[in-house]
Amino acid sequence: MRIGVLVSRVRAEEKLLFEEMERRGLDFDLIDDREIIFDLQQKPLAQYDLILERCINHSRALYALKVLEEWGIKCVNRYKVADNCGNKLLTTMRLIAEGLPTPQNKLAFTPESALRAIEEMGYPVVLKPAVGSWGRLLSKVNDREAAEAILEHKETLGSYHHSIFYIQEFVKKPGRDIRSFVVGDETICAIYRYSEHWITNTARGGRADNCPITPEINDLSLRAAKAVGGGVVAVDLLESERGMLVNEVNYTMEFRNSIAPTGINIPAKVVDYLIKEAQS
Ligand SMILES: Nc1ncnc2c1ncn2[C@@H]1O[C@H](COP(=O)(O)OP(=O)(O)O)[C@@H](O)[C@H]1O
Ligand SMILES: [Mg+2]
Repeated sequence: MRIGVLVSRVRAEEKLLFEEMERRGLDFDLIDDREIIFDLQQKPLAQYDLILERCINHSRALYALKVLEEWGIKCVNRYKVADNCGNKLLTTMRLIAEGLPTPQNKLAFTPESALRAIEEMGYPVVLKPAVGSWGRLLSKVNDREAAEAILEHKETLGSYHHSIFYIQEFVKKPGRDIRSFVVGDETICAIYRYSEHWITNTARGGRADNCPITPEINDLSLRAAKAVGGGVVAVDLLESERGMLVNEVNYTMEFRNSIAPTGINIPAKVVDYLIKEAQS
């Protein structure tokens, strides 16, 4: 069995995964996405039984996975999962289609229609770039003046993608959100992410603490993972006044801060899954 790991840069997560693979005596190679040339006729990576995608950049991940799957190579995660998760609009569409509870969302294409959408929804709202992570470029918009300013800034200073206005209800959550980890058909663990700030990402200073997997968390996590196509994903849940809501699903998850609080060996669970997938 030969596994390739496509990386942008070796972060803590990739180091942990490599250590785990070495412990199992797996034959694996690191493939640097800054170096690789996909010779489309020669299929340079055809020798691998499975490729684990760990790119940082969503576009690189998407294109690489597309090529690899066309060559018949099994990938974790699959192209379809990366596509569904890497774009918040597509994720939301999948979650709604599968009947999962989500925050209210609207989509608009001009600052004028976006302002109307925001006012229909009522302040505060959250604006997010459809493609983005680590809590970057999220805006909580509290009133009309702020809405007008942010919409104008996004249209004038942002790339075209920032004029696809993804508008979300601001969920009054209790100073934390929940991040659950799904590997295959199991919710392996979950953390609370506490923060004084409304953006609770650990990349932005959120503090991780163990979150017991209740039947509700398990059910929503497994259904959300399945809605985007399954695999190895992390699900963001928000506790709202009307119950738990699925905020988003992440496909190249970071987990360095979640091993100690949960006591779950996340890289070991991921490697178990890779071995099973490579053999199936
Ligand atoms: N609609 C919302 N209401 C309240 N908090 C939110 C909302 N959307 C996002 N957040 C907070 O911001 C964090 C980052 O948002 P998220 O949609 O997960 O984007 P990212 O892909 O950058 O992680 C969430 O973990 C949550 O704490
Ligand atoms: Mg998130």
